[in-house]
Amino acid sequence: MTVPVRKAIFPVGGLGTRFLPATKSMPKEMLPIVDKPLIQYAVEEAQEAGIEEFIFVTGRGKTAIEDHFDHAYELQTMLDSRQQSEALKVVKATIPLPGQIAYTRQQEPLGLGHAVRCARNFVGTEPVAVLLADDLILGETGCLTQMIRAYHEVGGNMLAVMEVAPEEISSYGVVDPGKQKGRIMEVRGLIEKPQTGQAPSNLAVIGRYILQPKIFEDLGRFERGAGGEIQLTDAMARQLGLQPLNGYRFEGRRFDCGNKVGFLEANIAFALDREDMREPVAHILRSFS
Ligand code: UTP
Repeated sequence: MTVPVRKAIFPVGGLGTRFLPATKSMPKEMLPIVDKPLIQYAVEEAQEAGIEEFIFVTGRGKTAIEDHFDHAYELQTMLDSRQQSEALKVVKATIPLPGQIAYTRQQEPLGLGHAVRCARNFVGTEPVAVLLADDLILGETGCLTQMIRAYHEVGGNMLAVMEVAPEEISSYGVVDPGKQKGRIMEVRGLIEKPQTGQAPSNLAVIGRYILQPKIFEDLGRFERGAGGEIQLTDAMARQLGLQPLNGYRFEGRRFDCGNKVGFLEANIAFALDREDMREPVAHILRSFS
């Protein structure tokens, strides 16, 4: 029997250098897709998947994230007095229950593996999900909901995977796939940012993970990998043989909102997906062609 996944880590300690100067004083994760910050999409995806505890690993200059998930009394009072009940509902909907959300700091951005390790005391001995807000996935069912269902079939560590173009594969963690059953595949090996021609497949790791707490023992060894960073995928690869590792080929369209083109693409796709915006946005797009 697998242990339920009740907790999720949101690593938001990165510098977001690809979005400077926008991210000089604003966290990358607060950049909006249409009218909602990236981080809120990630939190809502976790809520849909049944997550009860939300652990943020932040860094300097990220306090806007904490404020976003808190009361904004002045604004709420104003909206209330103006009877803008819809807007008030939207503002209040972002606030989790007291004690449901926790923040810890990654003092230095030493890599995703390091960020995840910073959350170890909040996770304790349970499995935990990890969501990277800059991987945004548009689909019927949330990616984490799909993964947790699959996780209950196979247990162990799991990561989300998708096919990417050969010329892009070197920017990702890449899996060496084994036996496949539906959308689940065994992972025999895992390489972070392989050199051109060295990738074992075109299946890239996307920012959704389910981890067993044993991973923290490995992350505690602070082994550096690609780019001199402490890589989460390396730690997962080192757990091979100790527990199952599976990839999950999720359903949905993923946008890489960590880069500018992907971010713009997501804004267009999400706007076209909304009834109130589809027509005017499509009209604007036609005017460019
Ligand atoms: P990225 O590789 O996109 O790095 O991190 P970044 O610093 O955010 O952005 P660029 O490359 O400078 O533009 C992927 C995710 O991992 C988190 C980031 O916040 C992002 O959600 N991360 C990365 C950390 O929390 N800590 C780190 O040390 C590195």
